[in-house]
Amino acid sequence: MSQLLSSTQIRDLTLRNRLVVSPMCQYSAVHGVANDWHFAHLSRFALGGFGTVMVEATGVAPDGRITYGCLGLWDDAQIAPLAQIARFLKSQGAAAAIQIGHAGRKASTPLWWRGAFNETEAEKPLVGFESWQPVGPSPIAHMDHPDFQTPRELTLAEVQALPSKFAEALSRADRAGFDIVEIHGAHGYLISQFLSPVSNHRTDAYGGSRLNRMRLLLEIIEASRAVWPAGKPLFLRISVQDGLHGGWNVEDSQALAVEATARGVDVIDCSSGGFAGATIRPAPGYQVPLAKALKQTGARTMAVGLITTAEQAEAVLTSGAADLVALGRTALDQPNFPVHAARALGDSADFWPKQSGFAVRLRDAALAKAALG
Ligand SMILES: Cc1cc2nc3c(=O)[nH]c(=O)nc-3n(C[C@H](O)[C@H](O)[C@H](O)COP(=O)(O)O)c2cc1C
Repeated sequence: MSQLLSSTQIRDLTLRNRLVVSPMCQYSAVHGVANDWHFAHLSRFALGGFGTVMVEATGVAPDGRITYGCLGLWDDAQIAPLAQIARFLKSQGAAAAIQIGHAGRKASTPLWWRGAFNETEAEKPLVGFESWQPVGPSPIAHMDHPDFQTPRELTLAEVQALPSKFAEALSRADRAGFDIVEIHGAHGYLISQFLSPVSNHRTDAYGGSRLNRMRLLLEIIEASRAVWPAGKPLFLRISVQDGLHGGWNVEDSQALAVEATARGVDVIDCSSGGFAGATIRPAPGYQVPLAKALKQTGARTMAVGLITTAEQAEAVLTSGAADLVALGRTALDQPNFPVHAARALGDSADFWPKQSGFAVRLRDAALAKAALG
């Protein structure tokens, strides 16, 4: 039996295999509310056999959305359609996960697949168009580009209010029935902006030393764990390195992993980058060494980034770099990746839904018979 397709337990939750669908923004919500697109998009991964399916970055506040088309969980009215998604994912044997975050200075940008603010006046009310000034640790823009505004610096009181905003969103995620929450601390969004000295120039208790820059995240973890049920896993995604000279690095992340684990984080999802000018060259498995570096701290890790084959994913686990493997674009391209991985690895695990698995097996039997002549 492969490691990739074997089950594993984290707290009270059993995952049917180690394959996770990485969170991927769809820029398709209206006023932060999920709809049929999100349901169909996410359901296919549960039907394809993934152990865990994670909903995209979901904002704790309206101004914490990356775009006006991103999901939110700042309002009870946003719970019901997400609950429907979580219910279906679980009915198909997948764990239902959701990523919770705040975009900080990288908020209020164009929908990625539109490429620009090109909405017509007639279209704006239909798509729920909104635009706002983002907030951040310091009044420094992500980059000199019309898509990114200079943020308003958060007041001390506003920073201190953020952990309870996260906790409220997590409590709604619990009410929606999710099994796993991932705190989004990566990719140059708000938490990541606080961590990196490049974007955090504060002189209060949330800026300056590494411990001060980690303070907001550690308070968010504590507030999250206080409301998130003890039996449910809590994941944390970070940019293990921001890729900038004098920025956040692997050693900083190792120190953070120790603190986060001590506060009840179960898995560190190891990504990187998200800052303008970062020198990170994507290549097959390029972030796997980052997961391995964090695993040395004793933390459970998840590897992600240009993992495209079953053999490669299995090697990530057998090399001891990570406990889970997340697929982003490969999952979009191959939503049935786990059922095909079972064949590629010669594993007897069968993740087909009963409604379709029997038909594929009959096809395979017919082909085998025909081949015998
Ligand atoms: C369309 C798209 C949307 C994404 N949205 C998110 C997101 O909501 N949260 C996040 O942490 N990463 C996001 N990512 C990054 C992916 O989760 C993943 O880390 C990245 O694509 C690398 O993995 P891959 O090479 O398997 O795609 C997104 C990536 C894509 C392609």
